[in-house]
Formats: sequence, structure tokens, C-alpha cells
Amino acid sequence: MGNYAMQEKYHIVTYGCQMNLHESEKIAGILRGMQYVETPTLGDADIIVFNTCCIRENAENHAFGNIGALKKLKKQKPSLIIAVGGCMTQEAGKTEALKKKFPFIDVMFGALNFEELQRLIEEKKRTKKKVIEIREKEGEIVETITPYRASYPNAWINITYGCNNFCSYCIVPYVRGRERSRKPEYILAEAEQLVKDGYKEITLLGQNVNSYGADGSTGMTFAELLDRVASIEGNFRVRFMTSHPKDFTKDVVDVMKKHSKICRLVHLPVQSGSNTVLAEMNRRYTREKYLQEIQMLREVLPEAEVTTDIIVGFPGETEEDYLQTEDLVKQVNFASAFTFVYSKRAGTRASTMENQIPEDVQKDRIMRLVELVNSLTRQKSETYVGKTVEILCEGFDEKKGMYLGRDEFGRMGYFNHDTDCIGKFIDLKIIRANGISLYGEVVDIKD
Ligand code: 5AD
Ligand code: SF4
Repeated sequence: MGNYAMQEKYHIVTYGCQMNLHESEKIAGILRGMQYVETPTLGDADIIVFNTCCIRENAENHAFGNIGALKKLKKQKPSLIIAVGGCMTQEAGKTEALKKKFPFIDVMFGALNFEELQRLIEEKKRTKKKVIEIREKEGEIVETITPYRASYPNAWINITYGCNNFCSYCIVPYVRGRERSRKPEYILAEAEQLVKDGYKEITLLGQNVNSYGADGSTGMTFAELLDRVASIEGNFRVRFMTSHPKDFTKDVVDVMKKHSKICRLVHLPVQSGSNTVLAEMNRRYTREKYLQEIQMLREVLPEAEVTTDIIVGFPGETEEDYLQTEDLVKQVNFASAFTFVYSKRAGTRASTMENQIPEDVQKDRIMRLVELVNSLTRQKSETYVGKTVEILCEGFDEKKGMYLGRDEFGRMGYFNHDTDCIGKFIDLKIIRANGISLYGEVVDIKD
């Protein structure tokens, strides 16, 4: 018997996107390296780490609420270490605001220096003083951290960090720094190891994967990198996100066609269907260019699906502009769409624009858009009934008492089975569709 009961426990709370979820896997890797073990219970933890997000105001409010709720716990257990990091601490003035509002925070770090967390925690333990270290500018990419992955059979791999695009509404370039590409040898070694370890789905992550290596530092384009990853031997799928319409090119689609391992899905955020709004957003493409890209994709890969992100209520958006977005949504017939109400982010260009849209108008537009998107997704789901699709089983839904998995287009399928099939590819005959979810019967199980 080891000294297991004596080990200190960690609990990580994550907000935001896949990028942040993956960063939390790296934070977990750091904590495990320090001999902490994970606890699912907040009250049991010796250290609680908040990995925050600041892309929209509600993500921030969420974090503020949850950090505030720990005041009592900290009082009961003064040895508890509360650490706050992620995008929010990286924002101008936010560290000060957090410090003032929550004096019980022990450690603060930023999205640009989370790799230093071990040193910061050790310093806190040694000095018993608050430790706050936020890096202003991005540094060299750190390759020494091994993530502790919590998402088997899926695995995420960063290919780029940061963003150079400065879309006028977006805070990411301010908090995540300039775009840096990882060296292909690190990415390929990581992917090979994951396949050896039995992972069945690899997602290449970047704010704009298409500009991988655009600074000339990698000797390889994104299409070449994708080709190399998909050429690794083994039974697994490859996904990538996010593609930026201003940089999405046919060489990537040709590589998709070459490899059946690459999911026939492109996440191509359009943001708006109006050229006026797109220009104000500094997206650097037009509605027409976007539609041409969709056409090019479908000419090469007729079975391909597209998902997207859309913002409504951007400053100056007229009813006519909004209707252009509706029109584009119908025209493209997205497999699914993430829809957002514009959120004003301090420091961005859009935050100073005149003609901010009143909340009731924003609410009305988002409700109409969600209704439209849902009805299109529902119709798409219906077309699945009677067909057999291949899904990768990724978990068991306790509430439904069923296994679940996704097809290559990200569509969720549920089914019953009496043995554990997580991590297996399953041919599922779809019996029924309910909203965006599919229900089916197992036809075949493959490794
Ligand atoms: N308000 C609303 N949505 C935003 N996004 C980014 N910034 C904002 C903002 N200020 C959305 C975009 C992006 C997605 C990740 O988040 O649609 O593609
Ligand atoms: Fe933000 Fe635009 Fe960069 Fe995406 S591409 S992270 S929306 S600035």
C-alpha cells in the first residue's frame, strides 16, 4: 500500500473552448507532476485552479460567481490554495479587479505563462504570500509539458497559439498574443504517440489553422502538416479547427480527399452574412467569397459538411443585415452552428463603435436565428433515419443509460450495448432522430 491517502488533491474548473479544455489537461499534467491527485469534489481539494475565459461577458460573470462562492470554503480550510489563470487574468485591469474583489486568491497566473504554475505554487507554499505573475507578451513555445488527457478516445493537439487577425469584436489577440506555430516534429511525434496509446480521434487546434507556418518558421503549410498527420498508420480519425474563411484554400480540401481518415467536416466561422458587417468586423472576406469556398469544398468532396459560428447584434447591424445572415444560413445548410449575441469586450475596436445594438433587438435576433438553425438541424437529423453511420463511441450517458458517440460530422448518436465499447468504431443503424441527437442499433463493432 502506498501513501495514497496523504496525497494532496487538485480540482480544475475550466471555462470556454476546446483550446482551454486542452490547456486544463496541461495544467493537470503539471499538478500530477507535483504529486497531486485529482478529486471531482471541490470541497475535498487542497488546490483549486480556475482556468478562465474572457471571449464573452457571460463567461467572465460565470467565473466571478464561482470564485466568489469559494470564500466560505477558504475560511473553513485556510490551507486551501486558490489559483486563478487563463484568458481573464491576461486582460487589461482584470488581475487588479480580481485581487480587489477576492483577496483570498493565493496564486494568479496568465494564459501566456501557465507553464510556470509549479514554480508559482511552490513559491506560495514557501513564502505563504500571494503570488501573482502575469506575462504581458507571449514567449517561446514550451514543449516540456505532458498533458494529462481526460477525453479518451479523443485527443487534442495544439498546432498554433495566439492570433494575428484582430477581428474587431474579438479579445483573443490581446490575451493570447501573436500567432506562433509549433514545429512539425513536435506535432507529429505527439500524434504518433497518441495513436500508439490507442487514441482514436485527433483534433488539430489553432485559432486559424490555415495560417499554420505562415511566418515561415515551420517549413510546412497546414495542408502538408495535415497530410503528414493523416499518413500516420493506424485506425483513427483526424479533425482540425478552426479554419478562417480568408485563408481556407483548396490544397487543404485536396488533402482531405486523399485521406479517408480526415473527417469530411470543416468548421468555417462566417460570423455574418452581410458584407457591411463583415467589413466592420475586419473579417477580410465577403459573403460571395465565403459561398465560393463552400462551393469549392462541395465540388471536391460532395459529402462534406460545414459548421460555423455566427454573431448577431454586432454594432450597426440592421434588420436587413441580419436577414442576410438568415439567408446565408439557409443557402449553406450548415450541419450545425454556434450562435452568439455580440458581447462588448473592452479594448477591442468594436467596443468603441457607435450604434451599439439595444439588448431587446439582440435578443429578438438571436431567438429567430436559433429557431432557424434548430429547424435546419432537425431536418438534417431526419435524413439520417434508416441509414447506417459510423460513430466513434466516446462515453456512457448516465442519465439516458446509453452509450454515445459522434459521426465524422460531429453528430451525436446514442445506443444500447451490454459491453463497454468506448473507443470503438461502431456502425449504427439510425432508428430515430430527436432534435440534433440520433438513436440507433449496433450493426457492427470495429476496433
Ligand atoms: N461577442 C460574441 N461572440 C464572440 N466571438 C468572439 N468574440 C465575440 C464577442 N465579442 C465568437 C465568434 C468566434 C467564437 C469562438 O466566439 O463567433 O468564432
Ligand atoms: Fe478572434 Fe478573429 Fe482571431 Fe478568431 S480569427 S480568435 S474571431 S481575432
